[in-house]
Amino acid sequence: MRKEISIEDFIRGIPKAELHLHIEGTFEPELMFEIAGRNTIQLKQKSIEEIREAYKFSNLQDFLDIYYQGAGILTEEKDFYDLTSAYLEKAASQNVLHSEIFFDPQTHTGRGIKFSTVVNGIQKACADAREKLGISTGLIMCFLRDLDETDAMKTLEDALAYRDRIAAVGLDSAEIGNPPAKFREVFNRARDAGFLTVAHGGEEGPAEYVREALELLKVSRIDHGNHCLDDYELAEELIRRRIPLTVCPLSNLRLKVVDSLERHPLRIMMERGLLVTVNSDDPAYFGGYINENYLAVTKALDLTAADIYRLAKNSFEASFLKQSEKDNMLARLHEYIEKGIP
Ligand code: ADE
Ligand code: ZN
Repeated sequence: MRKEISIEDFIRGIPKAELHLHIEGTFEPELMFEIAGRNTIQLKQKSIEEIREAYKFSNLQDFLDIYYQGAGILTEEKDFYDLTSAYLEKAASQNVLHSEIFFDPQTHTGRGIKFSTVVNGIQKACADAREKLGISTGLIMCFLRDLDETDAMKTLEDALAYRDRIAAVGLDSAEIGNPPAKFREVFNRARDAGFLTVAHGGEEGPAEYVREALELLKVSRIDHGNHCLDDYELAEELIRRRIPLTVCPLSNLRLKVVDSLERHPLRIMMERGLLVTVNSDDPAYFGGYINENYLAVTKALDLTAADIYRLAKNSFEASFLKQSEKDNMLARLHEYIEKGIP
């Protein structure tokens, strides 16, 4: 039995998986300056403080404008390597055993960077982190939904050569006005090629987009999913089919998807029996990595240690790991719990 432990330390120490994390969203201002310097790119902002000062968003588009500007500094394979290594070090220090990482190739190929530069940099960092830190990873390639399906199709073709290194394809960027139906063909092709599928849905967009993602894109998980609660039948279907939601509390707060964390739907989702997980989305922009998300939502919604345990358990169950790897990580979680809970 463990002696006294606070709920905060329990959260920090609990083994967990992260399933909703954009690698470009982990770009901290310090690293931005360093990489801009070596690539002789002039940043608009003169200091780290000035960069952080610009991180005041009133909606998703506001954020995306700044996020794409930051991502535009990444040029060489080493840049993607350093970005990914920094994130994985942070994640491992927060007891993340496994992370499924989104990347947005079109953000880079659209300005002349090779697809191979992006994937090789990220992939090498993942392999090295596995060796050095023991953290396991999966890659999810996202299509930008504000671009057209032809562009997504070209990106999928690029990805076919990396089929064994990319677990799934996803859909992100500006949601409203860009429904899943727009990407039906490219998702069909991706599934035929053996990729799993996920999609952002119900972040700013309506429950209908979540339904489309399920029915037309045949996704295995919904990223965010907040608005699924507006449609009772849809939520029932998600529960029945055990479709996970990868929820991102601090992101929702900063992008004003929720007015306050006290009004975040996470608790309601849990009470209804949805398979929810807690994730950081774009931690460098939203004021916290995965543990800060767990901590903030625990405080705001008065979650118990049993709730935290359930969220961590869900994170492994909802992952794309093989069953034997899931069992292994669930055993480590169990071992942690056996020592006692607050
Ligand atoms: N790209 C990076 N973060 C995103 C988010 N929260 N929603 C949609 N696209 C994104
Ligand atoms: Zn996201």
